[in-house]
Amino acid sequence: MHSDSSATVPSSISSHNNLVSKTVPPVKLNPRNQTPVTVVPVTVALLGGTGLSGRHTFSILHEHPSFTVKAIIGSEASANIPYIETWKKKESALESHHERLGYVPQPPPPHRPVHGENLPVPMTIQTFLQSFSPSTIRYVISTVAPSLGHIESTLSSLNFTVITISPANRSPANTFVLEHKIPRSPLRVYASPNCVACGVAPVLSAICNNAAPKQTVTHVTITTIQSLTGRGDSPYPSSLCINNILPVGQIEETETYLKSELSGLFSSSSSDPPEFDVRCYRGGALRGHVIDLRVSLSDQQPRQAKLTASTVVSWLESFDPLSSYHASASFSSFHFTGSSPPILVSPSPTGVLQSSVTGMQIVVSNVDVSDSGCIRCTIVVDNLMKGAAGAAVQIMEYVEFHDHLRPKN
Ligand SMILES: NC(=O)c1ccc[n+]([C@@H]2O[C@H](COP(=O)([O-])OP(=O)(O)OC[C@H]3O[C@@H](n4cnc5c(N)ncnc54)[C@H](OP(=O)(O)O)[C@@H]3O)[C@@H](O)[C@H]2O)c1
Repeated sequence: MHSDSSATVPSSISSHNNLVSKTVPPVKLNPRNQTPVTVVPVTVALLGGTGLSGRHTFSILHEHPSFTVKAIIGSEASANIPYIETWKKKESALESHHERLGYVPQPPPPHRPVHGENLPVPMTIQTFLQSFSPSTIRYVISTVAPSLGHIESTLSSLNFTVITISPANRSPANTFVLEHKIPRSPLRVYASPNCVACGVAPVLSAICNNAAPKQTVTHVTITTIQSLTGRGDSPYPSSLCINNILPVGQIEETETYLKSELSGLFSSSSSDPPEFDVRCYRGGALRGHVIDLRVSLSDQQPRQAKLTASTVVSWLESFDPLSSYHASASFSSFHFTGSSPPILVSPSPTGVLQSSVTGMQIVVSNVDVSDSGCIRCTIVVDNLMKGAAGAAVQIMEYVEFHDHLRPKN
């Protein structure tokens, strides 16, 4: 909640698949006499805002009633060039690169976002540091490659609050998904885990919570087939992916990230932490990572009823740890934190359409329990929303609307 006691009520919000499709500036009401008071939007900078995840982050924020993007930071290549020009050029490059898969370009933002200011012109980090300080920018959302982690470190050492989806500065102490672990004290760098971990963690959390205290998760096996947009504006050569499956583990660190981040997330919830086996592949889909998840529990008690798929489905469908924020959703403009449950269980035996996986909800299908008691399911997570832009905005909303976490500068 805000430290002042007045309420912020977006005057019109419509959502599709947990995505806010149209918003107008909030009307903030004085709780004593219900008269409108002025809202000053919270200032945000996007480090890597010209990249694919950065553009998706901007798309959310330019319609957000509580936040405004004051600065977009890119490389020398996009500095001082109008944002829309770079946006269209990069989307058109992705369209021609992924021509055979029918990539649909992300539409550019309007010239004037919801708070009525002109679009910022992208700048280098040097220009940003000359022009802004933590007193003029409350949050920096970072969507840069791991090799640029030193920029995040510089920003945090200068007292900026950084929210990152990049692997560079993740550690068990600062990496979380809100459905499973919520920070108790303010951090300089809040890190969202790898996009696959963003999809796995809610399912694993639902299973851990319901199996406890009788059983614990002992072993987790993850196999992924990740979509091509997971490589942003630097996609793999199509020839590697379109007719074949590319074993990611041979050329990227994804398997290592996933194993260590999920171990960090789930080791504190049990005295006997689960073991994780991870194999990752990339295949010819544009959006939405497919995850095959297998979860083994500790031995069943002799008189315990055998676990069934329908029990597991009920665990997943009732998992809604952010439901207590539903009230604050209308009270404090929480757009992502509490609008609908994080897991949608699909009854379809043939999986889900790619078009159904564009939001904050992960879709789980093919739930079953093997004869040996292993829970198996297929998860599809929107790598660009739940796994990247939406996760960053959700964390920022959570931090901003909780007094004990909000930066004091
Ligand atoms: N794509 C996904 O699905 C996804 C999901 C979760 C997490 N992530 C993570 O998000 C990060 C970015 O991924 P992406 O796919 O969005 O990559 P991307 O499309 O290649 O974007 C990279 C961004 O970094 C900027 N950049 C490059 N050099 C820079 C410099 N010296 N100073 C400042 N900015 C610089 C680029 O600016 P220019 O435009 O000027 O080159 C661009 O804005 C990665 O760490 C990735 O692991 C991606």
